[in-house]
Amino acid sequence: NRPCHVTVLGEEYPTDHMTNISPTIVSKLPLKLHTQPSHPLSTLRALIESHFPSYAHLSSLSPLVTPYQNFDLLSFPADHPGRSVTDSYYVNKDLMLRTHTSAHEVEVFGRGETKWLLTADVYRRDEIDGSHYPVFHQTEGARIVSANSAGMKEIEEDNERLAAHLERSSIEIEDVPHLSPMNPCQPAHDPKHTELIAKNLKLSLNSLMLHLFGGRVGATAQNPLKVRWIEATFPWTTPSFEVEVFFRGKWLEILGCGVIYQPTLDNANVSDKLGWAFGLGLERIAMVLYSIPDIRLFWSQDPRFLSQFKQGEITTFKPYSKYPACFKDVSFWLPEGQTLHENDFCDLVRDIAGDVVEDVKLASLIDDFTHPKTNRKSLCYRINYRSMDSRSLSNDEANSLNTQVVSCLRDRFRVVIR
Ligand code: PHE
Repeated sequence: NRPCHVTVLGEEYPTDHMTNISPTIVSKLPLKLHTQPSHPLSTLRALIESHFPSYAHLSSLSPLVTPYQNFDLLSFPADHPGRSVTDSYYVNKDLMLRTHTSAHEVEVFGRGETKWLLTADVYRRDEIDGSHYPVFHQTEGARIVSANSAGMKEIEEDNERLAAHLERSSIEIEDVPHLSPMNPCQPAHDPKHTELIAKNLKLSLNSLMLHLFGGRVGATAQNPLKVRWIEATFPWTTPSFEVEVFFRGKWLEILGCGVIYQPTLDNANVSDKLGWAFGLGLERIAMVLYSIPDIRLFWSQDPRFLSQFKQGEITTFKPYSKYPACFKDVSFWLPEGQTLHENDFCDLVRDIAGDVVEDVKLASLIDDFTHPKTNRKSLCYRINYRSMDSRSLSNDEANSLNTQVVSCLRDRFRVVIR
């Protein structure tokens, strides 16, 4: 009984067995927080862009992409879990919401861009808590050069410039080799070229980390900014790395990156070039830079949130009163043999209660059991309703939302409430 069409960004699309895009998600698509003046995500985008002044700065690509763009052009295997309807949002089997900004790499390289940044909203189905939200923002950055001596000379000169700059700065880098057995050179590449590109990638990003965090930790020779490189794997880069920064007593995961896998560049018709790409999540960085404690706040329309920020300035968020939490338990039996993915439960709750839900937890393992005689499975979720905006949520309102959750759960998943 699903509707046969769904309207997304003003266009109608046919639905099918893969359709799982929810009204809550559809409502986020036009917002583009990263371009809203004064919004923390917009200031962070601009701060990153200002560090790469000679790069093209893109920020208005549509979130609708094909699974082919999001996965296949980037060499994701056919059975990659990210493709499943429990992890990603589909308009229908041929159209989805990008799960990362890398989905645009082939398109942007194909247009002839060689040095670019792209900031955009990305979508992943997820649980509900203070640091997870099904929409977040990423900045992708990439640079490619000709795979010949001219291209390598350009990289070498840039490496010297960047190394000299970092030499004079208070930064301590825990590095890994550019290449290793786990993180090998690609068959299509000369290892000497790969080393130069990987070095340029590391120097460029170490310098970006200094730009974003250096001033704010008050890095000095005795107390330098600490950056750590870790080997990683991504289907469209080899070698691949992750970068972490030590900030306020914790290692923060900042970004993923690597030397672009040549088939990706072949797909963009730039086989004669090679280079690097990175992708970083804006919310996680903005949360620590601005001391924003809950990821839902980025979506707040409350003037007490929005009026605190000015474009181009990073200031410490002053929390306003938190309203009391209101916990409601939802316990139910699933029909025999049926399962319910936590992400399906969370999307249902978001559609009814929106950002009034602070978190959803599987209440206890004792309550996640299968009845020995009837073979039915029981689940219990604890929903924390708490308004982050203008006013307190009354117990009556929380009850009414919870009643709607329960009845929707019954209709949609045929569960029996305990
Ligand atoms: N797209 C990756 C992510 O979302 C990050 C990445 C970008 C990794 C570019 C390598 C190169 O985690």
